[in-house]
Amino acid sequence: MNIILLGPPGAGKGTQAHRLTEHHGMRQLSTGDMLRAAVKAQTPVGIKAKEVMDRGELVSDEIVSALIDAELEAMGDDVGAIFDGYPRTAAQAEQLDGILGKHNRALDHVIELEVDVDALVKRITGRFSCANCGALYHNTANPPEKEGVCDQCGGTEFKRRPDDNEETVRTRMDEYRRKTAPILPIYEERGIVTRVDGMGEIDDVTTAIESVIAPA
Ligand code: AP5
Ligand code: MG
Repeated sequence: MNIILLGPPGAGKGTQAHRLTEHHGMRQLSTGDMLRAAVKAQTPVGIKAKEVMDRGELVSDEIVSALIDAELEAMGDDVGAIFDGYPRTAAQAEQLDGILGKHNRALDHVIELEVDVDALVKRITGRFSCANCGALYHNTANPPEKEGVCDQCGGTEFKRRPDDNEETVRTRMDEYRRKTAPILPIYEERGIVTRVDGMGEIDDVTTAIESVIAPA
């Protein structure tokens, strides 16, 4: 199974992708997470990407497609893939077709998380994650059960993303509207797009996605 989670910044792609890895043994392929790891490790890709990401603009198609290709190469053929935040341009959509073909994979579903853009700024500016294991939280919508302690690993240090400020979020939204939303028709023509309401409770969104990928 190969699925794309599509939606603007803060739609819940990372939150839902993580749950699918837990429930279905699939693998989350987040180009945002891969780029942030490269920035942290100060690799040549990370050094190049940092300023672009801090501005909220898109990193080059070649860089992100090479990251995805390398991850799929390293993954077992029988492990399902959840693409989180990729593809984001028409060129990346075309490159993904080539990469999937090379790895004998085919796309099963594109799930678009439908959200109210005004609510997203609130979601993003309230987001934080565990500095140790990366588990995602939100100040009000999804805080750890015990304040200051990660539910998943017991870690007590948390961090916020440098691009999660209001100004950068606006640029990220704009990039989504101009470059990413227009790729939906490519997949609509193939009849594999399902729209899911991304404004409900996190559990309800998961249930809706699961009814698409594994209908009862
Ligand atoms: P990336 O890391 O992909 O960021 P993004 O697309 O802006 O999306 P986010 O991670 O902000 O949101 P999300 O949908 O994952 O939401 P989340 O689950 O965290 O990209 C970052 C940057 O990297 C880009 O700007 C670009 O520079 C570069 N980049 C990455 N991929 C690229 C590519 N393919 N091409 C070029 N450049 C690329 O949820 C958000 C918050 O809301 C959390 O706090 C969560 O707890 C909460 N929440 C989630 N669901 C709900 C809900 N249902 N109700 C209430 N709260 C909720
Ligand atoms: Mg994310």
